[in-house]
Amino acid sequence: PDLVDTPFYIINQSMARRIYRPRTAFAHKGNFGHALIIAGAYGKTGAAILSTRACLRTGAGLVTAHVPDRSVSILQTAAPEAMVFPDPEADHIATLGYTPELFSATGIGPGIGTGVKTKFFLRGLLEHEALKLVLDADALNIIAGSPGLLNHLPPGSILTPHPREFSRLFGEQDNDFKKMEIAISKSMELNVIIILKGHHTLVALPDGTGFFNITGNAGMAKGGSGDVLTGMLTGLLAQGYSSKEAAIMGVFLHGLAGDLAAGARGMEAMTATDIIENIGSAFQQLL
Ligand code: APR
Ligand code: MG
Repeated sequence: PDLVDTPFYIINQSMARRIYRPRTAFAHKGNFGHALIIAGAYGKTGAAILSTRACLRTGAGLVTAHVPDRSVSILQTAAPEAMVFPDPEADHIATLGYTPELFSATGIGPGIGTGVKTKFFLRGLLEHEALKLVLDADALNIIAGSPGLLNHLPPGSILTPHPREFSRLFGEQDNDFKKMEIAISKSMELNVIIILKGHHTLVALPDGTGFFNITGNAGMAKGGSGDVLTGMLTGLLAQGYSSKEAAIMGVFLHGLAGDLAAGARGMEAMTATDIIENIGSAFQQLL
């Protein structure tokens, strides 16, 4: 579609409030799903830790991290609340040793690399059409480099490319308007949600509408911020938010947590971990 014909909305606090469903008094962990985070080749275990911790802080009932064997004790030390599926491979994600449908949502990509075994793994995972998926980082890079995969994503999957990942997936564009136009048309064509990340992140929905996020700041322009978003989106999906709800509320909360981190630490000093530490305060602003 032409951008002129596309209905655009701004994501604000009242929109996020309408989506948010506070926990009820008699809730138990079974009400909040079991999230699976697949992340971190060796040397990038930090990406897995950030996504897993962000997922835990977003309210999933249970979180399991699938990481390479050598990363297991690092992850369990950094995120003791999470369970782990140790990949038999020492340094890579390669083995689908479980039934992915048993998880209520799956986030895959941060730091997994694009090695051949991981490519085969992702190809196999994408054959499971009923999964609620968040695809980020190297998962997107693998898809971009594997003709045919893009057209067979589970319906309703959430893709979270930054501008360079976006170009790898959908080709180079002359300007940001063109990128937005393509985000909208591709999300309709592929029946997925495309979150085009940036200062004003665009959430493009399969119905042709677009939602701009206005929270977030340049202190988030550093490695790890995106991994946090992946964990948050997976945590929201696992709890039963629809992919549309998770995408809209997720980018809002992620940016707001970043703004609170910047307020406390300053933009230079804040880290992705500070974003995670402020997810709770961001939720409290929705009450
Ligand atoms: N204003 C608002 N938000 C911002 C800003 C800004 N100036 N800069 C960054 N952000 C937000 C983005 O909207 C996005 O949600 O921070 C997040 C950054 O995400 P990524 O670009 O994915 O960065 P990240 O994953 O943390 O680090 C780079 O991505 O390409 C992969 O694996 C590769 O290690 C690399 C990693
Ligand atoms: Mg990233």
